[in-house]
Amino acid sequence: MGAYPRGLAGRAGGAIAIGARTFTALTFVALTCAALTLAASAALAQQEAPRPGAPAGDAAALAAANARIAVWDIPQVDLLPDDAEGRLVRYGRSVLEATARHIGPDAPDPAMRFAGNNLACVNCHLNAGRKKFGLPLVGASTDYPQYSARSGGMASLEDRLDNCMTRSMNGRPMPRDAGPMRALVAYLRILSTALPKDARIEGAGAGAIPGLDRPADPTRGALVYAQNCVFCHRADGRGLARNAVVASFGYGVPPLWGPDSFNDGAGMNRLVTIANFVHDNMPNGTDWTMPVLVPEDAWDVAAYVVSQPRPARAAFEADFPNLLEKPVDTPYGPYADSFPAEQHKYGPFGPIRTEIARLKAVKGTVPNPYAR
Ligand code: HEC
Ligand code: HEC
Repeated sequence: MGAYPRGLAGRAGGAIAIGARTFTALTFVALTCAALTLAASAALAQQEAPRPGAPAGDAAALAAANARIAVWDIPQVDLLPDDAEGRLVRYGRSVLEATARHIGPDAPDPAMRFAGNNLACVNCHLNAGRKKFGLPLVGASTDYPQYSARSGGMASLEDRLDNCMTRSMNGRPMPRDAGPMRALVAYLRILSTALPKDARIEGAGAGAIPGLDRPADPTRGALVYAQNCVFCHRADGRGLARNAVVASFGYGVPPLWGPDSFNDGAGMNRLVTIANFVHDNMPNGTDWTMPVLVPEDAWDVAAYVVSQPRPARAAFEADFPNLLEKPVDTPYGPYADSFPAEQHKYGPFGPIRTEIARLKAVKGTVPNPYAR
């Protein structure tokens, strides 16, 4: 990976200054981000290593394999015809946005209570799954079925969605023919309209800020939290419910920890994921072209959030049958290497990545003793 290409915020805040800006800056972000998104084209696009399997030496094939779709041509859901398909897609978007109302623990229909918390999918998959580096879901339906390192087998789109159901939503899997499942899948397909199989989009995931060469520091992160997050997510991390009585109305500001948050097996509980997500999207309204936090503050505030209590999910030692495929920041063991669990949680990750690469070269695989 080359030099950090998105230095709009830079490190101007200095090594230890807390990167706070006022909410006036957010208004500016809102007004300018549309223009910036257009301006920030290839020059700002993140660099990535060539895709494995791309034929070496064939420059054209390599370029094609690495081409990313920058402009997302997504049909307007509200303009779909009022037929069975159009209604299913609109229902799916509603499940994504008002998740707790449809499938939360207090959903009106008890048979539909699949989620274990009152979060909405869109609390993480921002702008109904259409925000660059806001965990977009554009292209997702073209990627499945796909090999899953977590299960060691093939996973369908429904299987992947159930991973968010059992971890991010702290709930249980949905039957494949349940209405909300079919509707979510129909909506995800619409997001991938006209995209080729295995489409690669620009802005996938949550980004890739440069790593730290020290462990991320929850104590320093608490200061970042007090200056940049507490106003919305509250001192107790529980966010703001839309309605004090009806929990299924979900959140105006979602919780970051506590009993109604994502559980400890969720992707958002991994430091690399949450640090990048926060850097590119928080305070809410921030766009990746104009981050508010400097990377160092994003790492530390992420460390503060993942050090807080949240629901525990039993028995995920069996995840990742080949331990060399386990993300370095997975906060639960077992691990292929001998770095302490603490370092897998807070970093620095560079030395772990080097060791994993060495083990891959020497051993190829390291079987998980707990794998079923
Ligand atoms: C607490 C945050 C959070 C919530 C809530 C959440 N997800 Fe996710 N989801 C993630 C993360 C993190 C990933 C991994 C993204 C990546 O690897 O780029 C992910 C990945 C996915 C993927 C795979 C995307 C891909 O391109 O492979 C799908 C599909 C998905 N989520 C659907 C949902 C649905 C549907 C809901 C609501 C029922 C939901 N998620 C709720 C955090 C969340
Ligand atoms: C202006 C209010 C506001 C501020 C300030 C803010 N957030 Fe958020 N945050 C939100 C909202 C609203 C969402 C959900 C977005 C949506 O549903 O579209 C969210 C979502 C999130 C999520 C994903 C959802 C979840 O429940 O985990 C994380 C993580 C997060 N914020 C962390 C932070 C951190 C860390 C800070 C401080 C650096 C911060 N936020 C500052 C309003 C805010």
